[in-house]
Amino acid sequence: MSGVKPYDMCWLDYRALEIKDFDLFRTICVVDNDKSLEVPIKELKHFIKYSFKINPRVIKGSFDFSKYILIGKIDQMKDIIKEAKMWERKLNNEGFMLKRIKENDKDILIITAKNERTLVYAVFKLIENLRIGEKLDDLNHVDNPASYFRIINHWDNLDGTVERGYAGNSIFFKNNKIIINERTMDYARLLSSIGINGVVINNVNVKKKEVELITHKYLKILSRLANIFWDYGIKIYLSVNFASPIYLGGLPTADPLDKRVSVWWKTKAEEIYDYIPYLGGFLVKADSEFNPGPHMFGRNHADGANMLAEALEPYGGYVIWRAFVYNCMQDWRDYKTDRARAAYDNFKPLDGNFYENVVLQIKYGPMDFQVREPVSPLFGGMEKTNQILELQITQEYTGQQIHLCYLGTLWKEILEFDTYAKGEGSKVKEILKGKIFETKYNGFAGVSNVGDSPNWTGHDLAQANLYTFGVLAWNPDRDIAKVVDDWIKLTFGNDSKVRENISYMLLNSHRIYEKYTTPFGLGWMVNPGYHYGPNPEGYEYSRWGTYHRANYEAIGVDRTSKGTGYTLQYHSPWREIYDDINKCPEDLLLFFHRVPYKFILKSGKTLIQQMYDLHFEGVEEVEVLIEKWYELKGRIDDKIFERVSKRLEMQLEHAKEWRDVINTYFFRKTGVPDDKGRKIYP
Ligand code: GCU
Repeated sequence: MSGVKPYDMCWLDYRALEIKDFDLFRTICVVDNDKSLEVPIKELKHFIKYSFKINPRVIKGSFDFSKYILIGKIDQMKDIIKEAKMWERKLNNEGFMLKRIKENDKDILIITAKNERTLVYAVFKLIENLRIGEKLDDLNHVDNPASYFRIINHWDNLDGTVERGYAGNSIFFKNNKIIINERTMDYARLLSSIGINGVVINNVNVKKKEVELITHKYLKILSRLANIFWDYGIKIYLSVNFASPIYLGGLPTADPLDKRVSVWWKTKAEEIYDYIPYLGGFLVKADSEFNPGPHMFGRNHADGANMLAEALEPYGGYVIWRAFVYNCMQDWRDYKTDRARAAYDNFKPLDGNFYENVVLQIKYGPMDFQVREPVSPLFGGMEKTNQILELQITQEYTGQQIHLCYLGTLWKEILEFDTYAKGEGSKVKEILKGKIFETKYNGFAGVSNVGDSPNWTGHDLAQANLYTFGVLAWNPDRDIAKVVDDWIKLTFGNDSKVRENISYMLLNSHRIYEKYTTPFGLGWMVNPGYHYGPNPEGYEYSRWGTYHRANYEAIGVDRTSKGTGYTLQYHSPWREIYDDINKCPEDLLLFFHRVPYKFILKSGKTLIQQMYDLHFEGVEEVEVLIEKWYELKGRIDDKIFERVSKRLEMQLEHAKEWRDVINTYFFRKTGVPDDKGRKIYP
């Protein structure tokens, strides 16, 4: 174990390794004592110490050993390793290589990368490979990240609260101050170990206090924070308020086409980059849920984003502009407006108008991180705009880290979704790799599930969601069952029963959660505001545009070409498939169609009967999750076992509540009894 800290180190909690021939790890050679090698070497030494109980020596400029590790940038290796030139061609800017060479009397383990900042990824990957059981002899990896941005978004506020945070308070802020301590560095280590290269430290809702983050008051300490992350290959980003020129600069306007405004941002950018040369850029939530934006001044999103992009361009910064724009003041009586259409309607006409250093950050679905939504049509629609897929690692609508809901399975489905934008094979993951459209700067953003709780994520098993986000962002082709198995091995060790049961739990948990909450793409039947627990009409008569319009005979919104026309935002064949009630995937049926309860599904059951069945099944399956977990007693650290057990018991209680409230709601609406005669409250 890696020492005593008041918090876990998740998948970085090293244990002794059973590798017999570890002489190689006694000597670390470097070509040059480049300062940027300090962190990778520190991480390597730390691992070696805990895993082999030895303290390696570090040698500079001499390679006269029979067994050693050679670490450094690839262009420094050309004189020592003859293949280095050839290898270099295989690496992209953030890629790295791990290779063992055994020749004559030499045995060398090479850790190399094109860019010194990414050597640390290589070290972590080496550690991970060895810890999941890869043989030293087999080490031979060329590993390039598939996409440009792999960013974590914190929704942390300066007062220390976290919007939609379920794991305690912020690890970055407390009482309007920035926190820097050992945990800050450990967080950078955790993120770097999964290949993350950016972290937005503050909430997208930039309120009065947070506006000040880009002032002298905070910039100095922010530069210290930025350096800690930069050592680990990670850039920090800041969420900014579009009206900052008014709040901070005393200008009468924030109109992006007003010269005073653009000059203000240029001066501001210069000042910020003076303190934080490696700032990644700005994240902007504009004209969305009461945040100011260009619409307030009669301008469009491209005008707004490009003005900021121009200010950041000299420093290599990016403007990440969120596509989460809709009318949040809708009248429920208005049947014409469809929130699902909003992002596409707002942004599609602007495709091609954004500068090169602007990236559009698009939530995975058209609504808001529900347990299931169709994949947003914007991914296949914005052909000339850089795109980031926004996922929610924090479980706002998926059980708030009380319920076990592993999200990797859902994310994988999203990534594999074929948009057909350029014919078959135009999958979301290929778009994010930059292979479908001619855009360079694409990637992933995940809303963080981390807080200051001892296990970082509230639910211990929710650590798997953070881990998986990083792994998929690096390589969306990864097999999800293997990712889960790797995470279990790294976190809990190699016990086969532990691996089998936790794999089962994680891989099934999202479907189970979906069953006892809102199947068929229904969504939103939660308590307004805090979004936990069942409330079938909680959002029905509100202004948020999230209606299911259930009456006594049918439920759902007609989003077909004959309804709101949302299906037309998709390419063929999806628009036809979604349009046809008999072809539409059933798990999205009520997202796209208004369906009578008597409608017969592919199983031969009516919609209402399947609704009842899924809710009963969901609860029974939570009971199976609990059995699987209890079988692991004694095989898992007691503290973790107890923590997870408590959450699973809560999950069961709350799943029953979901089942009974939803089933009762439908029974009372329809008067249709359950054909199996199970308990529903009349
Ligand atoms: C959801 C969430 C908000 C958040 C918003 C966003 O609506 O409930 O807390 O601010 O998404 O993504 O901007």
